Amino acid sequence: ARVVVLVSGFGTNLQALLDAVAAEGAPAYGAEVVAVGADRDGIAGLERAERAGLPVFVCRVKDHADRAAWDRALAEAVAAYEPDLVVSAGFMKILGAEFLARYGGRIINTHPALLPSFPGAHGVREALAYGAKVTGCTVHFVDDGVDTGPVIAQGVVEIRDEDDESALHERIKEVERKLLVEVVGLLARHGYRIEGRKVLIP
Ligand code: GRF
Repeated sequence: ARVVVLVSGFGTNLQALLDAVAAEGAPAYGAEVVAVGADRDGIAGLERAERAGLPVFVCRVKDHADRAAWDRALAEAVAAYEPDLVVSAGFMKILGAEFLARYGGRIINTHPALLPSFPGAHGVREALAYGAKVTGCTVHFVDDGVDTGPVIAQGVVEIRDEDDESALHERIKEVERKLLVEVVGLLARHGYRIEGRKVLIP
């Protein structure tokens, strides 16, 4: 499967995918990252892609008349690489109607909390503030909500008394990176069906 990854930051989830393809070989793993896109310049995620010799593209909201125009431009940029699967890995923008129309059902996202708990941009901070005893990460299909699409897999991470947001997020990311690599490989090798809120992988 041809995978385009969208990033907005450090890109360690992207790096985990790149490392899996390099270690297993695209045929055995079932997927290869063919391009990396971002909504901003100057982030480590783009450097990681360039270091891997991958094409990159940046689609900034401020370069477009409005959000819908940005969304269309992002969809066009992605289309150039003819992805089978789009992976949002720390991508901090909500994908709009046109992007979803073109790629819906083939976009997955990784979120650092156990959805439906703590959706949105501060899931780690909110789980900590809530005093939850466990949190974790969720890999799900993207739908027209915020972190609301059908769940594919989840991983549990304990919250420790001494945790602050960054320590907890790092511990979550250790689980998240493995989960994302596993899910992308499974979807790529076995295919999948989405039935309502259920994701069936034969
Ligand atoms: C991940 O934990 C992702 O779930 C969240 O932001 C983090 C991105 O990390 N949205 P990285 O850029 O992949 O290192």
